[in-house]
Amino acid sequence: MRFLFLGDIVGRSAREAVVNTVPRLRQEWALDFVVVNGENAAGGFGITAAICDELFDAGVDVITLGNHAWDQREALTHIERENRLVRPINFPPGTPGRGQTLIEAANGARVLVINAMGRVFMDPLDDPFAAIDQALTETPLSDIADAVIVDFHGEATSEKMAMGHFCDGRASLVVGTHSHIPTADAQVLPGGTAYQTDAGMCGDYDSVIGMEKDEPVNRFVTKMPRGRFTPALGPATLCGVFVETEGNGLARRVEPVRLGGRLIKALPQV
Ligand code: FE2
Repeated sequence: MRFLFLGDIVGRSAREAVVNTVPRLRQEWALDFVVVNGENAAGGFGITAAICDELFDAGVDVITLGNHAWDQREALTHIERENRLVRPINFPPGTPGRGQTLIEAANGARVLVINAMGRVFMDPLDDPFAAIDQALTETPLSDIADAVIVDFHGEATSEKMAMGHFCDGRASLVVGTHSHIPTADAQVLPGGTAYQTDAGMCGDYDSVIGMEKDEPVNRFVTKMPRGRFTPALGPATLCGVFVETEGNGLARRVEPVRLGGRLIKALPQV
């Protein structure tokens, strides 16, 4: 099967680009499944029920989150009734929602999507390796799941690479999110898992990781706040990875995707 993972959607211009482009990509690239990280979709901070609906209506199958999951309080209740919305699996016990979801794709395949958060330069949370190990054991690839997609939301490239190798052979794709910058290391790992350290954001790259650049630069220079962080609203680049799997759910190939906006274009061979 073929699927597309798009990294952190930052603000309105990215949201509009995703909504306007995903229907065409689903058709042109014969995509069976689309996952996006939506934790910055609402003005850079969190996600709302209306934005979830907008993304699902455009052909997104599952939305993942991260450290900004609850910036919009309605997400705490919305996630309880929306099983296509996934928050990090290693949040404390009792957190609303779920850290994994098994969804039927358009072609009938069962796709397990897991979201987890790293702990290096991030909030202290439960062990993401143990949590993902349990999820992969409970819903094994090529047995209960036809494809397994892991969004590992973290800051440190080392922790993300370690997670890729930890899941190698047991997931179709392990891809990082959160840094908002695409890395150039898309590869199929030795055991057959597609991997890229960070998908990059969907957003305006004339910015500081998606935010209007003046205030972040000011804070680095003066250490004093002068205004608020607001998403940069110039043309967005859609960033992510395209994956094609074999019958056993492991990856045949992975290719980086960068489409629109300022970054140099990268499109998969379809
Ligand atoms: Fe994040």
